Amino acid sequence: MDKNYTIRAMSQDDLTSVGELDALSFAEPWPMHSFAYELTTDYSICLVAVDLEEKVLGAIVVWVIVDEAHIATIAVNPNHLKRGIGSCLLAQALLVAAGRGAVSSMLEVRRHNLPALALYRRFGYHRVGIRRNYYKNDNEDALLLNLESINIEVLRNFFKTNCV
Ligand SMILES: CC(C)(COP(=O)(O)OP(=O)(O)OC[C@H]1O[C@@H](n2cnc3c(N)ncnc32)[C@H](O)[C@@H]1OP(=O)(O)O)[C@@H](O)C(=O)NCCC(=O)NCCS
Repeated sequence: MDKNYTIRAMSQDDLTSVGELDALSFAEPWPMHSFAYELTTDYSICLVAVDLEEKVLGAIVVWVIVDEAHIATIAVNPNHLKRGIGSCLLAQALLVAAGRGAVSSMLEVRRHNLPALALYRRFGYHRVGIRRNYYKNDNEDALLLNLESINIEVLRNFFKTNCV
């Protein structure tokens, strides 16, 4: 696997790039001030994947709510898909979340978002519910996915093998 990227904490300096990435990746991107806000809260984990020149290739925001890691958003630059970046962002965010007390994880995903569904299934998430007409721009349903138990050892091994 090509590993010419690293995962690190998101900073204020990344906000413009993260906003641009989000706009490229979603029909309903987050406003820039939402990412800025996430950087100020204790319960948010905000990470980026950057290349050797510090260009932002991917980003993830996870909320730790009591003992649950809720995946709020994850996106990888469309020119850098299927290089393992999404997996490494998710693995690292879950490890940080586990360090803060998360034991399980939950998220909503568009019903027809096959790349995202494949990513989440790879990590053991499974469908536990559906939110009808969840996405306002086109009324697509959201599937509610759950990872019942965050396995720290498995994630550490995955990260060591694939992301460092
Ligand atoms: C979902 C997303 C973050 C995945 O990022 P990525 O860096 O391409 O993912 P990875 O390279 O780590 O791939 C993880 C697994 O997902 C699967 N996968 C990824 N893209 C896929 C695609 N287009 N088709 C089928 N499977 C795919 C593969 O099985 C891969 O496992 P493998 O390495 O064993 O082949 C990326 O597609 C994206 O940014 N999409 C737009 C934003 C979005 O929809 N975010 C999710 C919101 S819920």
